[in-house]
Amino acid sequence: MYTPNATIKPSPIILGIESSCDETAAAIICGRKLLSSEIISSATEQAKYGGVVPEIASRAHTEAVDEVVRRALESANVSANRLDAIAVTYGAGLLGALLVGLSFAKGLAYSLNIPLIGVNHIRGHLAAAYLVDEELKPPFVTLLASGGHTAVLYTKNYLEFKVLGGTCDDAAGEAFDKVARVLGLEYPGGANVERLARSGSNTVKLPPALVKNSTRMQFSYSGLKTAVINAVHNAEQRGEAISYADVACSFQHAAIDPLVKKTVECALSLGATTVTAGGGVIANGYLREALSSACKRAGLRCVLPPKQFCTDNAAMIASEGLTQYLAGNFSPLDINACAQIPLV
Ligand code: KG4
Ligand code: ZN
Repeated sequence: MYTPNATIKPSPIILGIESSCDETAAAIICGRKLLSSEIISSATEQAKYGGVVPEIASRAHTEAVDEVVRRALESANVSANRLDAIAVTYGAGLLGALLVGLSFAKGLAYSLNIPLIGVNHIRGHLAAAYLVDEELKPPFVTLLASGGHTAVLYTKNYLEFKVLGGTCDDAAGEAFDKVARVLGLEYPGGANVERLARSGSNTVKLPPALVKNSTRMQFSYSGLKTAVINAVHNAEQRGEAISYADVACSFQHAAIDPLVKKTVECALSLGATTVTAGGGVIANGYLREALSSACKRAGLRCVLPPKQFCTDNAAMIASEGLTQYLAGNFSPLDINACAQIPLV
């Protein structure tokens, strides 16, 4: 029976490990203070195939995990025997990829006789905001927008959140990636669409990513994606010139404006004074500016993680690990990887 040394300290040193997709990442925190964050990415290799190839991702994690953890310890100037716990993503994500980080974390936690904390990747994205503002406390409303999820959430306390509304089809990041492909841009698509959009204007008529007349707040990206495909193909079939930069800019508005509007509306209607955000799409400069300005106009405090902590990273996993550590929620060594975990 594995009985780790689990005296709960108020400011523990936690190693976070993330390997759910194509980034192998490790980070060290001491309490909410971030000491280091390292990433080795296989994105360039994946770009040759236009997306993530699971087998390539797993192999890349196997080659990188030891090195990335070593770098994180070294740049934090922390030796492994000073760690109080290891937090690791156990899902959602690619099974083979998750298993690499999880197995490594289990072995290290066992050898150091410290607790292992399995972290839900999405909760990690939500916890990234705690690293920006060490005083941040629930309640708050969060806009979550990643490659697999799009939702507005209400975090009641450190351990509980409620989904206020979400997408009924594709996630926002997925839509960015699909539109990137239509516009001939390389994987990973989101950042490339943003780059192209900077030289365009919002002149192509596209439907906003919001379900009209719904009793629930629902976003929808499949109609918007189809409208982009139609706009490009119709213009090309008619032999008309169409500016891809204008398409990218117009898509960005249609994809992001409803998210910003609804997030602020939710915060106001719930009487929350703070808005946070998490997930890869929150790295988008237009979204960051639009959400910050809308919050400011509404008198809300807006806490946005820096861009490098919006896309996948291990600092957010360590941050969520801290929340679970303080609640004494440790994982057994037989915890398995999960490809899918429901939002709540
Ligand atoms: O959170 P994340 O790194 O991975 C998931 O957990 O899914 O999110 C990845 C998603 C991808 O779909 C990517 O295209 C999108 O985030 N993304 C962006 C930007 N950077 C990453 N979307 C729009 N603008 C960006 N700058
Ligand atoms: Zn993610």
